[in-house]
Amino acid sequence: MVTYLDAETAPLRNTGQIRLYGEEGFEGMRKACQLTARCLDELVDMVQPGVTTEAIDRFVFEFGADHGAVPATLNYRGYKKSSCTSINHVVCHGIPDTKPLKEGDIVNIDVTYILDGWHGDSSRMYPVGRIKRAAERLLEVTHECLMRGIEAVKPGARTGAIGHAIQSYAEAERCSVVRDFCGHGLGQLFHDAPNILHYGSPNEGVEMRPGMIFTIEPMINLGRPHVKVLSDGWTAVTRDRSLSAQYEHSIGVTSEGCEIFTLSPKGLDRPGLPS
Ligand code: MF3
Ligand code: CO
Ligand code: CO
Repeated sequence: MVTYLDAETAPLRNTGQIRLYGEEGFEGMRKACQLTARCLDELVDMVQPGVTTEAIDRFVFEFGADHGAVPATLNYRGYKKSSCTSINHVVCHGIPDTKPLKEGDIVNIDVTYILDGWHGDSSRMYPVGRIKRAAERLLEVTHECLMRGIEAVKPGARTGAIGHAIQSYAEAERCSVVRDFCGHGLGQLFHDAPNILHYGSPNEGVEMRPGMIFTIEPMINLGRPHVKVLSDGWTAVTRDRSLSAQYEHSIGVTSEGCEIFTLSPKGLDRPGLPS
């Protein structure tokens, strides 16, 4: 039996049940997510040839501390950094280190701040100096995948509609969708139900309802979709070493469609690409 007191003090856990949030939840998410978006805005000028991903990670930690937020990744399942920095053929969960970025690299920076208990999770691609046309095209396709996935968010539709929108566009552009990682519910938890697949069909998944909060974070490859995780236990790379890109927003389902919590206040949602 769970008494009132037990329930009150029980830690939140992922029970598989999909939570629905009201106005207070949405307001908490707006604040956390806007802090994350502001951090990602600040990084636009910092990402240059010669800068190390460790320096970027330190900035993410300090910007959070300055604004009362803690990075959710720090000590998450043994992860020891404040961000993930995934360069070129790294698909996701790249670990910041002392290696400098070089001209022509593309790097995803993924930040999740916890502010007042709410999780703001977002990532963007940053070109390092001038990049090749093929890399630029991958960034354009991947951002468009994210936005098409977001367009598919409507109460009454299933989460499979998101995956379908992403997969059909990516494959029409001769790119592939990574299957091994997905978007996720979040709010007062970092990773919660439901899983948001970036491939599939509109009649799959759960029905979306107003008040649901989740991320959409497609990983798109120029080559084949297959990935492997390196011996550090985190870094996921494309098996064929082709370039990979990812953009991520945290969103809330509304009666109309959805609210994007992590939009850049400066319009820098796709750094280095024409807005
Ligand atoms: N921010 C990532 C996501 O989008 C999760 C990173 S978990 C870590 O869900 F431990 F690798 F940092
Ligand atoms: Co996420
Ligand atoms: Co993320």
